[in-house]
Amino acid sequence: MRIGRLAAALVATGAVVGPLGWLWHGSLLPSAYSVMEMGYEDYGGGSPMGDHAAHARGVDTLTADPARPADVDLTLVARAAKVHGVDGYTLNGTSPGPVIHATVGQLVQVRLVNESVPGGITLHWHGVDVPNAEDGVAGVTQDAVGRGHEFTYRFVAGQAGTFWYHSHQLSDEQVRGGLLGALIVTPAEPPSDVVALFHLYGGTATVNGWAGETRVDARPGRTTRVRVINTENGQIDVRVAGSPFRVLAVDGTDLNGPTPVDGLAVPVTAGGRADLEVTVPADGSAVRVALSGSAALLIGPPAGPAPKVDRSAKRLDLLSYGKPKPLPVSFSSFDRSFKYDIGRRPGFLDGRPGVYWTINGHLYPDIPMFVVAEGDVVRMTIHNGSGESHPMHLHGHHAVVLSRDGVRASGSQWWVDSLEVGDGETYEIAFVADNPGVWMDHCHNLPHASEGLVTHLMYEGVTTPYRVGRGNVPE
Ligand code: C2O
Ligand code: CU
Repeated sequence: MRIGRLAAALVATGAVVGPLGWLWHGSLLPSAYSVMEMGYEDYGGGSPMGDHAAHARGVDTLTADPARPADVDLTLVARAAKVHGVDGYTLNGTSPGPVIHATVGQLVQVRLVNESVPGGITLHWHGVDVPNAEDGVAGVTQDAVGRGHEFTYRFVAGQAGTFWYHSHQLSDEQVRGGLLGALIVTPAEPPSDVVALFHLYGGTATVNGWAGETRVDARPGRTTRVRVINTENGQIDVRVAGSPFRVLAVDGTDLNGPTPVDGLAVPVTAGGRADLEVTVPADGSAVRVALSGSAALLIGPPAGPAPKVDRSAKRLDLLSYGKPKPLPVSFSSFDRSFKYDIGRRPGFLDGRPGVYWTINGHLYPDIPMFVVAEGDVVRMTIHNGSGESHPMHLHGHHAVVLSRDGVRASGSQWWVDSLEVGDGETYEIAFVADNPGVWMDHCHNLPHASEGLVTHLMYEGVTTPYRVGRGNVPE
């Protein structure tokens, strides 16, 4: 009798602990692994690959023309250092690092030297559709650059716009610590512009590394392009006072027919950019561009008073802003249609229990590998039912927003590389698979990425020799 009950109790315990143990064990990550072997392949309704391994191209071969000399050539030296009183990182002695300027079409060459960053570093060119070998993802497109080592990036700045660069090794920690900077690509006739890079250093809100209000000298009547870059993990609302303004570009791509915005805040998603055109008033006052917290740019005569912004202003909706213009591709039929469905549930991540993000119902590393062939017209439907907002970022491509919650985009073409998908929202986006490689597609709230909100987009016939683990930690 007693033995019977003990056995029954053991069986009952085993029924709970057994599967838990199995789930725990199944979540353990090997010490090093290829993203090519992770999870399962999702062909989005297209045909699976044939036997590709035999003549696959390695990501290393996907470079800019090696024979072409550089037009912009610089060295960035990374160091561990205190920044705004907290442990962080500098590039050439500052954080943010130097603003890199290029004219559209120029070949940019950046030699990255790791002088003293213990965990190794990389640079990812956020929003620039670089060749895959230059994408800077540790363990996917290169090995992390250890102390005393260097790596040279080369790519053509193919599109005029506002971009940024940041480490993609231990990115949650290193981006937080300020291993980042702005990359500005201007047309042949450069506009009068000012960079407004937002970052928090240990909770201190800064613009271009300066806490609080920063003055930018500009004559009355002057029109300026303010290039807002959000390097933080959450969306910010940018507010302007003292000038009518327009949104000229989002994520490095000009909008069509932008109209004056009155009394609305411009949301800029984590990792995203927005270029605002403001005009300094004739009366000697300054324009205030308020980013988040106390960080603001005051643009105008040095002592000109700057009006306060309206903190209660509603948000501008980019889905209907600007004027429609035909797309370069009709995006009415698709070679692949993927769903990227974000949820959340309890489970294990590398043996640690927690409540983790899911992708199409799966926990990292059992996640989809989205497979495309070069030239495919691709639709991705991102649904977020996870209880929190996610700034989703696809490397190497710009996607156009087709609809949100079933409502078709009705304004300018809205091309994104970073898209805020709020809880309960569904976005349909589309892109052309025109940049072969293995590309991350992840949440740019970087703690979420390190909690497994990461997938990859892979082209048929491309493979990576790199491994995540053993010193390569992309998140
Ligand atoms: Cu701005 Cu995967 O990164
Ligand atoms: Cu997220």
